[in-house]
Amino acid sequence: MLLPMKILVIGSGGREHALLWKLSQSPRVTHLLCAPGNAGTGRIATNHPVAASDLQGLAELAKAERVDLTIVGPDDPLAAGIVDLFQQQGLRIFGPVAAAALLEASKSFAKDFMVRHGIPTAGSVTFSDSSAALTHCRVASYPLVVKADGLALGKGVVIARSLAEAEAAIREIMVEKVFGNAGNTVVIEEFLTGPECSLHALIDGKNYILFPDAKDHKRALDGDQGLNTGGMGTISPSRVVDEDMMQRLKREVMEPFVKGLVADGLSFQGMLFPGLMMTPNGPKVLEFNCRFGDPETQSLMRRLKSDLLDLIEATIDGTLAYAKPQWDERVAVCVVLASGGYPGSIEKGKVITGIEEASADPDVVVFHAGTALKEGHVVTNGGRVLGVTALGATLVEARQKAYAAADKIAFEGKQHRRDIGA
Ligand code: AMP
Ligand code: GLY
Repeated sequence: MLLPMKILVIGSGGREHALLWKLSQSPRVTHLLCAPGNAGTGRIATNHPVAASDLQGLAELAKAERVDLTIVGPDDPLAAGIVDLFQQQGLRIFGPVAAAALLEASKSFAKDFMVRHGIPTAGSVTFSDSSAALTHCRVASYPLVVKADGLALGKGVVIARSLAEAEAAIREIMVEKVFGNAGNTVVIEEFLTGPECSLHALIDGKNYILFPDAKDHKRALDGDQGLNTGGMGTISPSRVVDEDMMQRLKREVMEPFVKGLVADGLSFQGMLFPGLMMTPNGPKVLEFNCRFGDPETQSLMRRLKSDLLDLIEATIDGTLAYAKPQWDERVAVCVVLASGGYPGSIEKGKVITGIEEASADPDVVVFHAGTALKEGHVVTNGGRVLGVTALGATLVEARQKAYAAADKIAFEGKQHRRDIGA
């Protein structure tokens, strides 16, 4: 299909800005839309104030604007069945149907899938009854990991170092329901150690294409201290995976995954993003995400040389076997600038300065996340505000460029890690 296209991207984060930035370079794209978007997406796309959770509203928008293709950024609309809804209405959309997106939306479903298909992961038991979970914790060895089964903004994972901590986690998740119905079930699993990395692969149902590896920095503070966040910065490549390991990940994770889809009759057209830990006993899958990572996408889109639209269409059309994406050999570093207090409560509406100056270096792109336009100014509008993303011949150079640019940007309460890729 080589017709010019009007494309809608759903979401409002740095991931969505990075996807739009890359799509805007495609000669086939005539018009970009974003719902709901941010101040950065508004520069390259038309923002429409429809929430990512308003599935019917998004379908109406796609119809009214005669959108040719919709690309879903976040996990919640996928889990809620946006792809199923669009397909029922004859609308072309990128992402897995709800039955396949359960691989992210239910950790117990993902665990069963991995066990059934021989994909390496931490040993685990699933409980829907809190007293049975507590009984298990009394005889388990520590540390262990308690995970809310459902989507919890990356916050539903507790590493319990003692029985008391495990009891507290089970009480919060299953009894007090701090994550709502996501905590009806818990997965309790073995504690693993080792460096982590993020894998991304487009899957068309039968074939897959692996992207270069990336590494997120999840904790809020330098030295991996502080609370877990959505991600404070990424590098690509990760330096955790060499070529031999990449081959091993294909054999041990990707091939059994795709075979498992076929065996289980699961239709999966979209992005699979496994979170991995490189343990002394080999690579293990910590979780599956059924979407692009944020802020992994910011680093990956800087390195993708091929047309993203071609890859997305090949995924939907089942022709990934013929796709050969080209990647920039250089290193990408994305440093997230966050609002003061993040990942706790934050204040919005702080005026941001210096984005133009930071973007003066042609190797730097500043992706917007929690930003909005107010009286002609770009202001903060969320926890993660900007992703300053640089390319360099070496990691040292990419870091130096990203941090030099990050230092030119100012807003009240600005916080960021100093050790992304260090
Ligand atoms: P998840 O959402 O399952 O990827 O978990 C979030 C984070 O918790 C991961 O990035 C790891 O840092 C940590 N984690 C998850 N599972 C385990 C495990 N079995 N052992 C040690 N750490 C884990
Ligand atoms: N950066 C981790 C995620 O997108 O889940």
